[in-house]
Amino acid sequence: MFISKNLNVNEKGNLTIAGIDTVDLAKKYGTPLYVLDEDLIRENCQKFKKSIDSYYGKNGLVCYASKAFSCKEIYRIMKDEQMGVDTVSIGEMYTAILAGFPSEKIYLHGNNKTKEELRFAVENKIGRIVVDNLNELEMIDSIAKEANSKVDILIRVKPGIDAHTHDFIKTGQIDSKFGFAIETGEALSVVKLVSKFDNINLIGAHCHIGSQILDVDPFVLAADVMIGFISDVKDETGIEMLELNLGGGFGIKYIDKDDPVDYEEYMKAVASMIQKKCDQYNLKKPFIVIEPGRSLIAPAGITLYTVGARKEIPNVRTYISIDGGMTDNPRYALYKSEYDAIVANKANEERSEIVTIAGKCCESGDLIGENMSLQHAESGDILAVCATGAYNYSMSSNYNRNLKPAVIMVKGGKSRVIVNRETLEDVVRNDI
Ligand code: LLP
Repeated sequence: MFISKNLNVNEKGNLTIAGIDTVDLAKKYGTPLYVLDEDLIRENCQKFKKSIDSYYGKNGLVCYASKAFSCKEIYRIMKDEQMGVDTVSIGEMYTAILAGFPSEKIYLHGNNKTKEELRFAVENKIGRIVVDNLNELEMIDSIAKEANSKVDILIRVKPGIDAHTHDFIKTGQIDSKFGFAIETGEALSVVKLVSKFDNINLIGAHCHIGSQILDVDPFVLAADVMIGFISDVKDETGIEMLELNLGGGFGIKYIDKDDPVDYEEYMKAVASMIQKKCDQYNLKKPFIVIEPGRSLIAPAGITLYTVGARKEIPNVRTYISIDGGMTDNPRYALYKSEYDAIVANKANEERSEIVTIAGKCCESGDLIGENMSLQHAESGDILAVCATGAYNYSMSSNYNRNLKPAVIMVKGGKSRVIVNRETLEDVVRNDI
């Protein structure tokens, strides 16, 4: 009946998340409100870990891609679950370290890391820097020299795979700002160059082929191409790269028609391809890293809003306006990403109308979705938008000087704030 398995309806006819009444949560904390289910996040971490344990002989690490949702509490949970984390800025690294996350299990990504970020990474002994351009290779070497240390890196390569997803979130093809192309020989020449830097250790290779991918095949193909690359590198240079990071991108169910594959299936298929190719090329099976972001956390989250204005335009459409919008969830405005929504206090009722859910920003494109089938919504109702745990809070903004919502975590029938709601003082904090 609902998109995510942690959602249900109680005897009052209200939507629940992890057994907690969402209408009560809205009353207690106000709206808009991000709600995350801790048990589901932990369960997802364990599923990914178990898939590596079962199909790849425990020879790997699951890194949570924290761009999906970053705050201190999530890094504490990831530490507790013995995960690694993928970061992509000094802000994410800083938050992780402040939360006590072990720096050796942090990976730093980014197509244009600044000197400040690289220095921070080296000084804090971040586990791996994933090198994306030649500029940063030189910077890393000189920073490491100054710090009298050696830095472990992976090189980011483009395996040239089209993973059939939205253009904006496709990163593995040749025309991408990320990484070095295998096809053109660029990636191999970078490997040769790396061996000239005294303060850099080349540990392995990384790729990420896209996001919200609902098939297994592109991942298997990526593994195939990457092992081929590792073999070419060995033949040409004698260097055997012992770590293979295959990135993230595993799809989830946002709307009924999405049919994601069970996480286990990915690892099963990828592991068997790696085994086959390593046998074929006579290579040692590399330590494997995967970086799920969305799939770990999106299904664990919902956003609660209060319905305000209702505008029926005969023969055109009905707008249901909410007290949030593109400032807390820009994904429809950016990618036309679809969501399921439920009137939380009418969760048992028929979805009797087709509506457009509009945000409150001064912008026509500020929509959460169009042609959405919904229970009859009126002013004062609580609206829940499902599967918003990833790339909502982390992509939120203060456009129109709207305040960012609070984030709460639910677990064991209880709820707690993990990110405070912004205040008016927060909004003017940096103004002179
Ligand atoms: N690793 C790397 C190197 C990545 O670039 C990404 C996502 C991930 C892992 C995690 O991918 P995931 O498992 O979450 O699909 N803002 C977009 C998504 C951008 C993803 C960018 N990179 C969205 O809202 O759909």
